[in-house]
Amino acid sequence: MKKDFIAISDYSPSEIQKMLDLAIELKKEWKSGGNPPLLKGKVLGMIFQKPSLRTRVSFDMAMRHLGGDALYLSPNEIGLGQRESIADVARVLSGYVEILMARVFEHQHVVDLAKYSSIPVINGLSDYNHPCQGMADALTIIEKFGTLKGINVSFIGDGNNVAVSLMHVVTMLGGNFTLASPEGYDLDPNALQIAKAFCEKTGSKIRLLRDPEEAAKGANVLYTDTWVSMGQEAETEKRKNIFVPYQVNQHLVEMADPDVIVMHCLPAHRGQEITDEVADGPHSTLFPQAHNRLHAQKAILVELLRGS
Ligand code: CP
Ligand code: NVA
Repeated sequence: MKKDFIAISDYSPSEIQKMLDLAIELKKEWKSGGNPPLLKGKVLGMIFQKPSLRTRVSFDMAMRHLGGDALYLSPNEIGLGQRESIADVARVLSGYVEILMARVFEHQHVVDLAKYSSIPVINGLSDYNHPCQGMADALTIIEKFGTLKGINVSFIGDGNNVAVSLMHVVTMLGGNFTLASPEGYDLDPNALQIAKAFCEKTGSKIRLLRDPEEAAKGANVLYTDTWVSMGQEAETEKRKNIFVPYQVNQHLVEMADPDVIVMHCLPAHRGQEITDEVADGPHSTLFPQAHNRLHAQKAILVELLRGS
């Protein structure tokens, strides 16, 4: 049966760990001269309903490094669910390419693409989660600390799609997850239930706070993301006011563990959720984190296409 990559929580902790191990191996191999053409002759179709820098370029380059190719399909070309039904798009593309990646507004759209495709489908961000980002984030934390076990990860800001995938990978692999968010910007309740079930197995802890300083105390990882996700543009002014106390700045970094790393999935809105001083400071791991998208996604692609 074909496999999809719609959510980290669809996989077992050992499967996720295996993919992360593969990412580390592929990264080492690439740094020491290149990867073998494991995906020779394979083409990834990339459907985008929203803009992207990292997801688009890292997936395209991942395919090239592995001997395959990628095809960018812009929002205007496909008109997913508008020009043509999602089911029909899925059925047509299944005959042209070997694997799909889709960035969508509604999570159900990527679920439906997977349902009607006969080829693997990867979620490149939805309004619910961002699993490819979560994998790169886990890789970045493991590179720095050697493990996720017992690592305190504090997400400051909106309980959004990026926070959901981060919470899942962290609690699945034994780390502790804290969110500091304003009231009304909490995590998806179903995502929280899933994470609580992981905690019961791993002994991980989740804290849901309002106070960013409390969340920062003792953090090994301080994570932030935009206050206004793609699709929420109409709320920009309201959100920009509400989230002001949730800026990751030098004061917050000083409250955390002295060896804290600061993470952001990017794009960053400097002066809003993160200051220049922190984004460009000694604790920042923003760009190695962005670069790890390439390696984490190679592992996902190889895993899904293995044997196909
Ligand atoms: N972090 C991330 O997914 O970036 P893009 O929106 O540029 O792909
Ligand atoms: N939460 C952000 C992430 C961008 C990569 C968004 O959905 O726009």
